[in-house]
Amino acid sequence: MAVTKDQVLAALGKVASPHGEPLPATGALSDVVVTDGKVFFSINVEAGAVPKWEPVRKAAEAAVRAVPGVQSALVALTAERAAGAAGAGGAAGAGPQRAAAAARGPSAAQAPEGVKAIIAVASGKGGVGKSTTAVNLALGLRDIGLKVGMLDADIYGPSVPKLLAIRGKPQTRGGTRLLPMDGYGLKVMSIGFLVEEETPMIWRGPMVMSALTQMLREVEWGTLDVMVVDMPPGTGDAQLTMAQQVPLAGAVIVSTPQDLALIDARRGVAMFARVNVPVLGVVENMSTFICPQCGTRSDIFGHGGARREAERLGVPFLGEVPLDMAIRETSDSGRPVVATDPDGPHAAAYRAIAAKVRDQLGGTARAAPKIVIEA
Ligand SMILES: Nc1ncnc2c1ncn2[C@@H]1O[C@H](COP(=O)(O)OP(=O)(O)O)[C@@H](O)[C@H]1O
Ligand SMILES: [Mg+2]
Repeated sequence: MAVTKDQVLAALGKVASPHGEPLPATGALSDVVVTDGKVFFSINVEAGAVPKWEPVRKAAEAAVRAVPGVQSALVALTAERAAGAAGAGGAAGAGPQRAAAAARGPSAAQAPEGVKAIIAVASGKGGVGKSTTAVNLALGLRDIGLKVGMLDADIYGPSVPKLLAIRGKPQTRGGTRLLPMDGYGLKVMSIGFLVEEETPMIWRGPMVMSALTQMLREVEWGTLDVMVVDMPPGTGDAQLTMAQQVPLAGAVIVSTPQDLALIDARRGVAMFARVNVPVLGVVENMSTFICPQCGTRSDIFGHGGARREAERLGVPFLGEVPLDMAIRETSDSGRPVVATDPDGPHAAAYRAIAAKVRDQLGGTARAAPKIVIEA
């Protein structure tokens, strides 16, 4: 017997909020997502009220787990700005307003003001070159004239500061607002700045939710045509919740050509479909290898697998990036190839991918037309 959302809500009806009302009546619940016996949702509360709500979160998880047929339950507390503060999208406001925000479901989270489109770069597993692709894609978007921000949301290995050679911590303005860092003309925030490296993985899940909210709401992003998010790898509950929390315009899936990586990529496509986020396309990374000594082409991880898979899944194929020492070296030393070798073939490949992504976004992320004054 498949578990239904109503069963879950009925179970949550027996869990009381800190004020004693049944949880579903508080208006603090996000949409409840139930898939294959897995349940996830978040409880949106004011930042200051988090300690009071933590036992409620635990009780909610336990109540849902006790429903017959439920295999796992993930409940996240998401802290919104205090009531009355600007820019909270109304989610921390009065009951009805908050309920309306919750009713909008997975996309209830609002993009920060001035940010036209947010896209996720995701992969079914780690080590496929997701961060390298995200950074070079962001720089490619910058090169075709867009204002670009980069949000590093990879809980397992935030690497954007290293890839863009950013040192130090972000400054604050007025005590609460964070200023993004600059990396090659991109505005950058990383989860690495907000969650200490020593934080055990088990604590990261809930912390990441509030860190994400903070990175979206409490950073002075200014006006951006597009924000590129380096998502955590994988397609588990944590990733799904995250995909739900960030108001995404679309997702780019990175895969190597091997079968194994493709299976993971397929899960990625399915995951975004589940939360109604359009897949902008698939990038095949570490495609062909061209020997620097002899120029011979060899397909170490196979070739063309991602293109065929994209066709099969009916999602656009965005392009191939070869397996090349220059990409690895520039990436790992904080000199991304699009920024440091803009005339080379790799930069051209990333810019072509960027142009396809921009076209997929349609009107939302277009740069303002440049006015050319002829002499
Ligand atoms: N196309 C490529 N050619 C050569 N090395 C690459 C390529 N893409 C990524 N790498 C290297 O592979 C490693 C993993 O890449 P990374 O972007 O950190 O992956 P992920 O974010 O998926 O874990 C890094 O050392 C990176 O420099
Ligand atoms: Mg990475």
